[in-house]
Amino acid sequence: MTISLAKHVALVTGGTKGIGKAIAEKLRKCGAKVVITARSAPEETAEGFHFIAADHTVPESAGDIAREIIDTYGRIDIIINNAGANQGPGGGYNTLSDEHWQRDFDLNFLSAVRMNKALLPVMISQHSGVIIHISTGAADKPLWDMTMTYSAAKAALNTYSKALSNELGGKGIRVNVVSPGVVKTPLMIAFLENIAAASGISLEEAFKMVTQKVDVPLGRMSEPEEVAGLVAFLVSPEANYITGVNYHVDGGAYPII
Ligand SMILES: NC(=O)c1ccc[n+]([C@@H]2O[C@H](COP(=O)([O-])OP(=O)(O)OC[C@H]3O[C@@H](n4cnc5c(N)ncnc54)[C@H](OP(=O)(O)O)[C@@H]3O)[C@@H](O)[C@H]2O)c1
Repeated sequence: MTISLAKHVALVTGGTKGIGKAIAEKLRKCGAKVVITARSAPEETAEGFHFIAADHTVPESAGDIAREIIDTYGRIDIIINNAGANQGPGGGYNTLSDEHWQRDFDLNFLSAVRMNKALLPVMISQHSGVIIHISTGAADKPLWDMTMTYSAAKAALNTYSKALSNELGGKGIRVNVVSPGVVKTPLMIAFLENIAAASGISLEEAFKMVTQKVDVPLGRMSEPEEVAGLVAFLVSPEANYITGVNYHVDGGAYPII
């Protein structure tokens, strides 16, 4: 299937590394103009992308990004709210402070809420647009000792996505969630390195520990591009009747169908 996104303007938050980078590259290959954000500029040259430096945990950043996009292109067709991370220290409820909870909700939930709020007036006036929230299988299957704050924040993102899709369906805007499993990205490598250091085990052993806990029938981590392919389909006209759905791209890890 050839997906054409010519004349589409897309925003990919956290589009400089990992899953966001793969999505940005895929959308650009499909013909979209792609705006990417991150706190630091991409290490490799991001030729062909419009980079905006931003920290999504700063509430004002959403308005600044929206203004730059609309001033430059006059429209927005696709929002991929991808920036996120499991920032909690692990160890269970008693190790978690209000600050840990706030940090994970700011980055993994409120950043998307604010970005959408800043750009939705334009999508509504166009009577068209697609929003994808990059969530995680850990929202449904939390690991109490590793992902408590992160899982709760992404679960909030999922519920918000459903409510938003119900609200915006009649305005020509679709909202879906894509939930990766274990993806080989800089974030995942850093997560495994932390587990290895904390438990005094090798990186290889940490990887085995996580994949056993998550139980992946396909028996391997995914590549970021394997998430990007689904996202490109979901934002394309091929998926015009799909909204309010959460897709798991996780090698079969999600325990029910
Ligand atoms: N990797 C996995 O196995 C996995 C599994 C399930 C879900 N996910 C989800 O997939 C998404 C992407 O994860 P990833 O593994 O690709 O992460 P990654 O490799 O760490 O990349 C994260 C991207 O987001 C940017 N970013 C991080 N914090 C930011 C902030 N406060 N403001 C602006 N940009 C920020 C990073 O750039 P800077 O550091 O320069 O800001 C980078 O471009 C996240 O929402 C994550 O929860 C990942």
